[in-house]
Amino acid sequence: MIGRLNHVAIAVRNLEAAVATYKDALGAKVSEATAEPEHGVTVVFVELPNTKIEFLEPLGENSPIAKFLERNPDGGIHHVCYEVDDILAARDQLKARGARVLGDGNPKIGAHGKPVLFLHPKDFLGTLTELEQV
Ligand code: CO
Repeated sequence: MIGRLNHVAIAVRNLEAAVATYKDALGAKVSEATAEPEHGVTVVFVELPNTKIEFLEPLGENSPIAKFLERNPDGGIHHVCYEVDDILAARDQLKARGARVLGDGNPKIGAHGKPVLFLHPKDFLGTLTELEQV
């Protein structure tokens, strides 16, 4: 079912500091910051040869990553995202096996303009897992 690793998302308190670390220490290619108010985050993409890293900084009240940063004050890996060909088929297959889909269970349009779903961390090795239809 799952295909490529699309991205790993890292929650950060300070985007500028995160960008400086990856640019200066690791020599990574880093995008401009993009505010995504509808997702409650400001995002920076780190382009790697085989995948992406996304830095997520909270934006506005009720950011979905605010609680995570309370528990992880230094930031940390927030979720991993795998590509699937057919997100509804993937969802139905996973639900049939007892996996929990977050939210109302229907795909939403994610940060890349493609349908995404999030799977409960308790069902996936303690890791919030995103599926993106590509
Ligand atoms: Co993501």
